[in-house]
Amino acid sequence: MNQITPMSKIEIIPATAPFSEAQRSWLNGFLAGALGIDGSTPLPPAQNGAVLAPAGDIDDGEAPWHDQTMPIAERMKLAEGRPLRRRMMAAMAQQDCGQCGYNCSDYSDAIADRSEARLNLCVPGGKETARMLKALYEEIDKVPAAAKPAAPTAAPATVSVVVSAPGRLRDNPVEATFLSRRLLNKPGSEKETWHIEFDLGESGLDYVVGDSFGIFAKNDLGLVDQIIALLGASHMTEVKGKPLRQCLLEDVSLSPAPDTLFELISFLTGGATREKARRLAQGEDPDGDAATLDVMAVLQKFSGVRPHPEAFVEALEPLQPRLYSISSSPKANPGRVALTVDAVRYDIGPRRRLGVCSTCLAERIPLGSVMKVYVQKATAFGLPADPNVPIIMIGPGTGIAPFRAFLQERIATRAPGQNWLYFGHQRSDFDFFYEDELKAMRKAGHLHRLTLAWSRDAEEKIYVQHRMRDDGRDFWDWLERGAHIYVCGDATRMAKDVETALVDIVAQHGKRSAGEAAAFVAALKKQGRYQQDVY
Ligand SMILES: Cc1cc2nc3c(=O)[nH]c(=O)nc-3n(C[C@H](O)[C@H](O)[C@H](O)COP(=O)(O)OP(=O)(O)OC[C@H]3O[C@@H](n4cnc5c(N)ncnc54)[C@H](O)[C@@H]3O)c2cc1C
Ligand SMILES: NC(=O)c1ccc[n+]([C@@H]2O[C@H](COP(=O)([O-])OP(=O)(O)OC[C@H]3O[C@@H](n4cnc5c(N)ncnc54)[C@H](OP(=O)(O)O)[C@@H]3O)[C@@H](O)[C@H]2O)c1
Repeated sequence: MNQITPMSKIEIIPATAPFSEAQRSWLNGFLAGALGIDGSTPLPPAQNGAVLAPAGDIDDGEAPWHDQTMPIAERMKLAEGRPLRRRMMAAMAQQDCGQCGYNCSDYSDAIADRSEARLNLCVPGGKETARMLKALYEEIDKVPAAAKPAAPTAAPATVSVVVSAPGRLRDNPVEATFLSRRLLNKPGSEKETWHIEFDLGESGLDYVVGDSFGIFAKNDLGLVDQIIALLGASHMTEVKGKPLRQCLLEDVSLSPAPDTLFELISFLTGGATREKARRLAQGEDPDGDAATLDVMAVLQKFSGVRPHPEAFVEALEPLQPRLYSISSSPKANPGRVALTVDAVRYDIGPRRRLGVCSTCLAERIPLGSVMKVYVQKATAFGLPADPNVPIIMIGPGTGIAPFRAFLQERIATRAPGQNWLYFGHQRSDFDFFYEDELKAMRKAGHLHRLTLAWSRDAEEKIYVQHRMRDDGRDFWDWLERGAHIYVCGDATRMAKDVETALVDIVAQHGKRSAGEAAAFVAALKKQGRYQQDVY
């Protein structure tokens, strides 16, 4: 929290920021000067340390829409009547995932005070968030002056953008060497998940368990060349100071097609084609195929249209980094970082679409080559400070990633607290990630309970939350002993169902009404005893 103590010590950089005390103190002084804060007036509370609420912007600080499973229409409804910056926050995907370089609250504040001009950074929110932000942005000039955030001074409102040390934020990545890939599924699996390792040696980067790793991947060269062919352009056409091919490989997103590409096509055509492109640009779906339109599919759909490469590139969105939960502890793997990456591949008509970063890691990047990377500090996801506290970790699929790191850390630090892991996936024979390691930890007494849920071993789907309910009494006992609960993996379905199961366990075994149980779980969240890393 931003605070000014009675001694007028100015604290803009939160204590949790990755700086030494001396660096923090210097930065606090520097920013106080740049922002014109003299310490005589208390700063209004802010959600995450860096952004000041504008004068006249009355808001209770609550964010009832802050739930990643809630559809955007519902979130916007809950934000009705709130200041513009809070409605902007409601438009975001509510994952606080850090992919945009902020959390949701700080990103919206930065857009509202115009220190951030990019409205398309919310990866999980995708096009619907970008569209809503664009509409809200147009309201900025209509906001009464008193409630309008002050124009940014020399220092942007988000401190982190100014002061990021190398490799600490997406805006200042460093290079790390790609060391290895190993398939975690056995032959016969329907999934393709990789254990990936990077060498951080040269980069000087470090991390703690719970952090995520940001990676700037390149697009698939085959796809890039097909797009260049559809444009009827040359690889070497210069665009933004580099050859078109390099620009398409490194700089722009080729999926999904942005509204600006449809706009460009509507400018270049006429009649029914123009009308179709115009409707697509407005979020309509004239042919029922809008959801499948990546950039190449758009060029195929409007095959007579050949935009100039420069205009084409300008109509595309920047290629964003991707985040992965770190699956190693630096104490067990000095100078290295491990990830657990599910390869995204799916069909668009007759064509197979490859997830940019996951398949880059799975097959395109040669061992020993370097990639631009950064560590995304976890804001509220980490081991309890007290090593005696028991922990329950619920991580189906790639959700196991941070828990492998937690376990390695608790072993390396000889933490006496008990560890309980719920892992689940499709089939026990093929999809038991890190089976040998987990069994060895179990045998050595480091992993006190391991509960498994296989969804496709039998007729009936068994998910982690079913196992939680089966174990309800013990689960409640652990909670009563102060256990911290962690969930990682799918945000939209699994995380919601796990939370429902937790509420039910509290109601049944804690002998509470449904309302009391929900309040109990909400309190666990507030106390930092129920933490999520979901995507
Ligand atoms: C904090 C955080 C932690 C994460 N940790 C992990 C992790 O540990 N492991 C992991 O594997 N991932 C993790 N992710 C997800 C990861 O960041 C990427 O989103 C993921 O790897 C896909 O990126 P990509 O570039 O390969 O695919 P993209 O090119 O981004 O393609 C993915 C997109 O394709 C679309 N899509 C995907 N499947 C289908 C389908 N079947 N049909 C139609 N459309 C589809 C969706 O729009 C999806 O968003 C994490 C995300 C966050 C925010
Ligand atoms: N943003 C992205 O582009 C991206 C990239 C990778 C993964 N993801 C998402 O991240 C999630 C993790 O993917 P993953 O490969 O690690 O595994 P996953 O697809 O989540 O599957 C892991 C296990 O969870 C089960 N499961 C399905 N629905 C569930 C529910 N409601 N509650 C509890 N368990 C449930 C699955 O069962 P069944 O499949 O048998 O039902 C499977 O056994 C997925 O939702 C995936 O879509 C997103």
